[in-house]
Amino acid sequence: MLYPKITQVAHVLPTKVVSNSDLEAILDTSDEWIYSRTGIKERRVAIDESTSSLATEVGKILLQKANTKDVDFIIVATMTSDEATPSTACLVQDGLGLTQAFCFDINAACSGFIYALSVAEKFLLSQKYQKGMVIGVDVMSNLIDYSDRGTAVLFGDGAAGVLVENISSTPNFISELIQSDGNRYEALHGLSSNRSNPFKIVHNQSPYLLMNGKQIFDFVLRDVSKNMLQALKESGLEHEDIDFVLAHQANQRLLNALAKKINMPKEKFLSNVAYYGNTSSASVPLLLSESVDKKELVLGRNQKILFTGYGAGLTWGSLLINI
Ligand code: COA
Repeated sequence: MLYPKITQVAHVLPTKVVSNSDLEAILDTSDEWIYSRTGIKERRVAIDESTSSLATEVGKILLQKANTKDVDFIIVATMTSDEATPSTACLVQDGLGLTQAFCFDINAACSGFIYALSVAEKFLLSQKYQKGMVIGVDVMSNLIDYSDRGTAVLFGDGAAGVLVENISSTPNFISELIQSDGNRYEALHGLSSNRSNPFKIVHNQSPYLLMNGKQIFDFVLRDVSKNMLQALKESGLEHEDIDFVLAHQANQRLLNALAKKINMPKEKFLSNVAYYGNTSSASVPLLLSESVDKKELVLGRNQKILFTGYGAGLTWGSLLINI
């Protein structure tokens, strides 16, 4: 039996950079407030790009790097599909010409990549499929109210992904714990409604992302920290065995607090939130891909990485993986 391993990584970003001072020009905010509360300096905003175009570019790079067109499935994690249907994954398939692959999206908000990678692993473990493409992509700028300083400063757009293949003689997905709590959905949600339906009167609904920042902050420190520690415990590994933590890049202050809460040196928490903000489903694979480019992480070296996501749903989860 062969076990799944991450074999390629790639990321693609919109070219438009929006700095904190650009936001100062349109909102009652300041670089000082944003940076001190979140660690964010700038973010990318899609102008000519779309969710499917960014994801397709990621897919192209993955196929080029692997020199293959032999992919059994494409899973895209996103909550900002260009269209409600078909899925972004089907548009990626079309763009890549991978006619033999089956394709679908997962919406688990900022935990989406963690969920999608877990699902990919299960398909591969079945041994029926040998190679999967998992992409996390979000164009959060489509969902953000740029007159709401509470959310507009936090989010950005991006896409990143991996190829996962059955190539290893030993397991690499060491432990996982994936959780949800729909009861707390109101802490972070974006409404969707058909405003042209003459039979339905929609009252007081904002079409934008709404967030209770403090509730999310508390949720991460309480529930996500427990989840990370439980995933670690179930792996049988100790804190010092973990080479790096790749946690969802929502806010540097939150990442520092999380590191402290789980008693992990904050240097082990890799970070790029300063340059991209919160890119939702793209956040964790974007950090992975950049860290590989910077050679902080080396695929095939068997570094033990704790991947953690958290976000709307509420959803959260960790995967401990040998990369
Ligand atoms: N610029 C300037 N002032 C702002 C602001 C902005 N962009 N956004 C909010 N403020 C104001 C608030 O209105 C408030 O003003 P008031 O005291 O007059 O009411 C003040 O700053 C303090 O707001 P507060 O909410 O207490 O700030 P905070 O220190 O808790 O930080 C967040 C706010 C959003 C940065 C923080 O709660 C957070 O990071 N939460 C997690 C959010 C997240 O990551 N969500 C996505 C998860 S997937």
